[in-house]
Amino acid sequence: MTLYKNIVILTGAGISAESGLDTFRDKGGIWEKYDLMDLATPEAFARNPELVHEFYNIRRAEVKKVDPNAAHYALARLEEKHQGNVAVITQNVDSLHERAGSRNLMHMHGELNKARCMTCGHVNIWLDDLLRTSICPSCNKSGNLRPHIVWFGEIPFHIEEINDRLSACDLFISIGTSGSVYPAAGFVQAAQNFGAETVELNLEPSDGTNLFSIAHYGKATEIVPEYVATLIRQD
Ligand code: OAD
Repeated sequence: MTLYKNIVILTGAGISAESGLDTFRDKGGIWEKYDLMDLATPEAFARNPELVHEFYNIRRAEVKKVDPNAAHYALARLEEKHQGNVAVITQNVDSLHERAGSRNLMHMHGELNKARCMTCGHVNIWLDDLLRTSICPSCNKSGNLRPHIVWFGEIPFHIEEINDRLSACDLFISIGTSGSVYPAAGFVQAAQNFGAETVELNLEPSDGTNLFSIAHYGKATEIVPEYVATLIRQD
């Protein structure tokens, strides 16, 4: 008899750090090198689409060069072995969770590997550079594709399903996120209000660290497989 029927896991940039992708707010992180107001808002894209495309083209190319790490694989293993439900909500726009084998996965901040047409609304798989002149494979119009990324000021994807998952969860695990961007930063409080146990696995205490009943600090590739192994043993 499993201890937890519904496990919800929130991940952030810290889970992909040891694969070689930069986090946002650590020393040397992405928002230290770039100004997010120039790159990650709808206004920035309207002002200078070439610059925004270039930023995401670089990041798309980086993701191609890296592989999932032991933490991504541990979460896929948990989904496979656990007797109850396991859902992963990721703030990450890389594809490392799915490449490791996670299937019940929500990309709440979008995906680098997709482009959305602002004319027809179609979301296309996009693995190479996206340019201002790129043509939408769905409506054949050029100039209207944008990265399928949630920018600041936009509403994250899957919010309704996420709320349903949080209201039903009995274990909430937050991994590799600073807890500084809402609504994701508020998920721990919601899960706690619904009676879930809350666990933080991070390099250091996050902004919301007081809301977690259990915390393990260290590298994701070490603490995530260890914690997952304890959950699988309890099944
Ligand atoms: P942050 O860069 O804000 O936080 C990364 C967290 O991961 C920090 O708390 C680090 O201590 C931790 N960390 C770093 N290396 C780690 C490791 N090897 N193992 C475990 N933890 C590690 O990234 P997010 O919280 O994901 O949004 O940022 C949230 C959102 O802000 C992103 O999705 C992005 C960004 O602006 C958009 O672009 C819309």
